[in-house]
Amino acid sequence: MKFVLASHNRGKLQEMQAILSHLGVEVVLQSDLGLNLEPEETGTTFMENAAIKARAVAQASGLPAIADDSGLCVDWLNGAPGIYSARYGGVGSDAERYQLLLQNMRGATNRAAHFHTAVVCCFPDGRQLTAQGDCYGTIAFAPMGEGGFGYDPVFFVPELRKTFAQLTAEEKNAISHRGNALRKFAQVLQEDMEKNGYGTDK
Ligand code: IMP
Repeated sequence: MKFVLASHNRGKLQEMQAILSHLGVEVVLQSDLGLNLEPEETGTTFMENAAIKARAVAQASGLPAIADDSGLCVDWLNGAPGIYSARYGGVGSDAERYQLLLQNMRGATNRAAHFHTAVVCCFPDGRQLTAQGDCYGTIAFAPMGEGGFGYDPVFFVPELRKTFAQLTAEEKNAISHRGNALRKFAQVLQEDMEKNGYGTDK
């Protein structure tokens, strides 16, 4: 059974394939089907934005489509940057965005934060499966580590005494919001397949 990932990111495809391979499903990128959709993310939540992307690709391809949407939510900033994580402050680079975040945290008496991921799978008939994942930590006082991307250098995991950027890809995946959301999604999909008898030889 074939699913389309509503993304152009080959790294995300490999992650999704690895996590869904035991279910015997094939996942392809929307760009591999020649789909160049870039629907506007007009939702007010991660889940709404993931659903907008999944729905557009399911309608265009006639195949079930999976989309995810993630971001960093900081308590002291009332949940910002949240769904605006990729374009926080309108500045151009990851480093500029996390420096802006550190600036906005000056004098903060609470540095708690979490990453969140929403995953939506939309079937061509409009039916949806969803899953979510979180990872809780704090905002560091200064960037540390070279790995990862985005806000990784300033997201500190107290249990490991390291930022996301100081973890290997495997260590990060084992605890990350995306890892947690994708593992839950694999479970939800497996249950749905068993209940409705598709994607198997039944
Ligand atoms: P996306 O929905 O996965 O494209 O994530 C949107 C934005 O959230 C990214 O551009 C990053 O700024 C931020 N973000 C999401 N996941 C992570 C992560 O694992 N580490 C650091 N930043 C992240």
